[in-house]
Amino acid sequence: MARVTASFITSAAGAGGFPKEELPEIAFVGRSNVGKSTLINSLVKATVARTSAAPGKTRLANFYRLHRDGDTPFFLVDLPGYGYARGGRETAAEFNLLADAYFNRAGREGFSPVRGALLLVDSRHPGLDADRRAWEWLESTGVEHAVLATKLDKLTRAERQRHLRELEAHHQGPVLPLSAVSGEGLDELWKLIASLLRRPPLPP
Ligand code: GTP
Ligand code: MG
Repeated sequence: MARVTASFITSAAGAGGFPKEELPEIAFVGRSNVGKSTLINSLVKATVARTSAAPGKTRLANFYRLHRDGDTPFFLVDLPGYGYARGGRETAAEFNLLADAYFNRAGREGFSPVRGALLLVDSRHPGLDADRRAWEWLESTGVEHAVLATKLDKLTRAERQRHLRELEAHHQGPVLPLSAVSGEGLDELWKLIASLLRRPPLPP
């Protein structure tokens, strides 16, 4: 088992707060409460991200520095949850501003530091409008992206088959099934992240 070191670097409300150090980045995007912070902790087998049963806690872009033996160090960036019903339109606007600033920035030599965006969707609720809009939006950014289906442990075997098929149809491509509780999919997620980090950087 490869050793992982992970630390929280900073929280940013906008472009001015992003870290000065430049590393390749992988972004986690997803509705509030979908399990972004929990998945970060599961990946690194430590508690580096704050999690909560009450949605809407993460309002800033949180940067974590991850380094797995043998791989490139990178920032894993937890973007604030969007589509939180009670936050309504205001939260969506906040997310969009921050996300635009995040995805549209150029680093050294004019390349974007963002190598991939992973959209987390709750496997219990395939095809939510907010998730489909987020997916369309990610397609428009030009950044490599994929879907992670969270909380698989909450589904029955029959639901699992049906929901994963539905998700694949909605997002037109493979969906990686995950559970932070059982650990299912974590090895595959590390492989996916490593392959995104190997891709050449692109302009924003
Ligand atoms: P925001 O920070 O509000 O955007 O939410 P988040 O996406 O970071 O969600 P968070 O990781 O805080 O998890 C929300 C709730 O879902 C917590 O109660 C977690 O314990 C639970 N949860 C997350 N992942 C899983 C999973 O794989 N299985 C189960 N059963 N529960 C999970
Ligand atoms: Mg969170």
